[in-house]
Amino acid sequence: MVYHIGNTVVNIPESIDEFNKTSARYMMEQVNKKPDSVMGFATGGTPVGAYRELIELYKSGRISFEMVKSFNLDEYYPIKKDNSQSYFRYMNENLFNHIDIKPENVHLPCGEAVDPNTECDAYEKKIIAAGGIDFQLLGIGTNGHIGFNEPDDKFPCKTHLVGLNQSTIDDNARFFDSRDEVPRKALTMGIKTIMSAKKILFIASGANKAAIIKEAFFGDITPHVPASVLQLHTSVIIVLDEAAAADIKDKLE
Ligand code: GLP
Repeated sequence: MVYHIGNTVVNIPESIDEFNKTSARYMMEQVNKKPDSVMGFATGGTPVGAYRELIELYKSGRISFEMVKSFNLDEYYPIKKDNSQSYFRYMNENLFNHIDIKPENVHLPCGEAVDPNTECDAYEKKIIAAGGIDFQLLGIGTNGHIGFNEPDDKFPCKTHLVGLNQSTIDDNARFFDSRDEVPRKALTMGIKTIMSAKKILFIASGANKAAIIKEAFFGDITPHVPASVLQLHTSVIIVLDEAAAADIKDKLE
């Protein structure tokens, strides 16, 4: 079903299969409309199914990434590229190895950088040099983070080094062998970097996201809920599963 918050379209597909297909379809429409799109990609559990669908669309000849440039939102710091939980590996395994994107057009903040601040400045410059992000895929942390922009007293602006909150470390521990192995820091696009994207596809699934989705889209705009800044973006599309939409369903038009 399709609902609205003001002018923002909120898709609530009936199954997880449709959730993945809907999310992938928005990305395909972007790339087919502008084959040299600059795509901002996200990680986490939520987009895996959408990436699987994109791979299927590629295999069936309905999309090509030959001219696409990509910039990922974030990366743990420090982390080796070949660590099984690096976002570098995640993107290769879940998407890039299976499509025709050119390796030289793929960008992630480097978790192996000796000087993280220099790496962040360079990353921000590369995004600007590419003409900015046309289409940004975004998930949300249970504490409201987007990328790894954690709740704070102010919105961080550009790509930067961030200390992860305990709740994020706890949430992401499920991907690692133990909690101790979760890196305590990350490199992430800033809020301004994300908000400069021309279009944003926001996706969330699962009952553990329901409360924060309500705060993000119906609460105050505050850096304590970083995703709430999206209320100020003029071109956001939302895809939620029923569980993530549970607390806002009665507020949708
Ligand atoms: C991760 C990523 C975010 C992601 C979020 C949700 O830590 N840094 O970009 O949106 O947390 O992840 P998941 O989809 O696994 O719930």
